[in-house]
Amino acid sequence: MSKFSMIQIINKKRDGGTLSAEEIRWFVEEYTKGNVPDYQASALLMAIYFQKMDREETFELTRAMRDSGEVMDLSAIGGIKVDKHSTGGVGDKTTLIVAPLAAACGVPVAKMSGRGLGFTGGTIDKLESIPGFKTSMESRAFVDQVNAIGIAVAGQTAQIAAADKKLYALRDVTATVDNMSLIASSIMSKKLASGSDAIVLDVKCGSGAFMEEQEKAEELAQMMVDIGKDDGKTVIAVLTDMSQPLGRAVGNSLEVIEAIDTLKGKGPLDISHLSLELAAWMVLAAGKASDFEEAKAMVTDALLSGKALEKFKEFVAAQGGDPAVAENYGMFPESAFCQEIYAGATGYVTRVDARIIGKASQLSGAGREKKEDSVDPAAGIYLYKKVGDPIRGGALLARVFGNDDDKVYQAAEEAKKAFTISKEEPAEKPVLVKKVIR
Ligand code: URA
Repeated sequence: MSKFSMIQIINKKRDGGTLSAEEIRWFVEEYTKGNVPDYQASALLMAIYFQKMDREETFELTRAMRDSGEVMDLSAIGGIKVDKHSTGGVGDKTTLIVAPLAAACGVPVAKMSGRGLGFTGGTIDKLESIPGFKTSMESRAFVDQVNAIGIAVAGQTAQIAAADKKLYALRDVTATVDNMSLIASSIMSKKLASGSDAIVLDVKCGSGAFMEEQEKAEELAQMMVDIGKDDGKTVIAVLTDMSQPLGRAVGNSLEVIEAIDTLKGKGPLDISHLSLELAAWMVLAAGKASDFEEAKAMVTDALLSGKALEKFKEFVAAQGGDPAVAENYGMFPESAFCQEIYAGATGYVTRVDARIIGKASQLSGAGREKKEDSVDPAAGIYLYKKVGDPIRGGALLARVFGNDDDKVYQAAEEAKKAFTISKEEPAEKPVLVKKVIR
């Protein structure tokens, strides 16, 4: 005899009731085991979508999903382990910069990352564009590497938050992705299972983000911070702009090159600024500085002194990659085709729509449509102009790269639509929308 009835649980949520911790845990466990059919799970998800979940229900759902798979034990690593997570952005290569920056300041960085699905690329795909780089690691080797050099970034195993994997796939096909509690619990179940003591969240808003409106992004950030706090973790969230791509490079190897340039102090301003900010919060969360200003000074020194670049090379070498790529970008895979996009008018660039550039980059071969798809490491888009730049008609706006001529052509046709040029100079839009929520 089953402890609960799925029909009663669906009924309760449908009518606006509050589910108990036991009911939520029972549902997650039984669904993971295959004892609850997809049609009942879908009905419950839809009831949650309309009736919402309160803070306690959201926390219980997160914990149940965390416990549905492997929970990493990082206790063999000394110090306060800090993770960093971005809710997904176009051209967001900050992990590649922030992780070595924080590690160079003595923060143990033990990071599990995902592959990209849809138009936002994943850190693992980006790292794999480095010749020889391995992202699949046994947990022992992962822990040993963090103890030895202070940093490891590995692909998230299929066993992490097993229930979330099943439920996310179901949400995707039942129009139930877009619910605050379901998104927050999905992200945080994986973060809590990854075993770090503190988490710095980069929550995006704007056209290329999950939550386009700032208010909603803020609500999501607060909810994730609350979940972390309720679990006894230090969680800090920063709200950042994703109305245009971050930096100038979008696509796997293009982004790694831009990240290395940033570690050399030659990166675009928005990426450099955001990376220092996020790394400083990690240093503070790890207890390596007494206040944010001190933490910011430490990461700035790690950047300017070249220590963070050295840490990046050490990290690449430890995971089987050739650190010489940092000096010789010709070692990255090159694309066979390139299409250029030119400005049709003179004035100022007032819009470079992140979502359109993201989709165009995916079309060029840099992203996946289905999770079985492979990515082209050389494909992507390089932006020569961004919002606020003055431009003359006929000047170069962007280059689109890839290894499939047709796809590159189509991607360039799409990417053109991302740009707006107007006579009026636009107001400056900072990358950091709201400093911090904790
Ligand atoms: N990312 C996740 O991992 N889960 C969601 O529900 C949305 C974004």
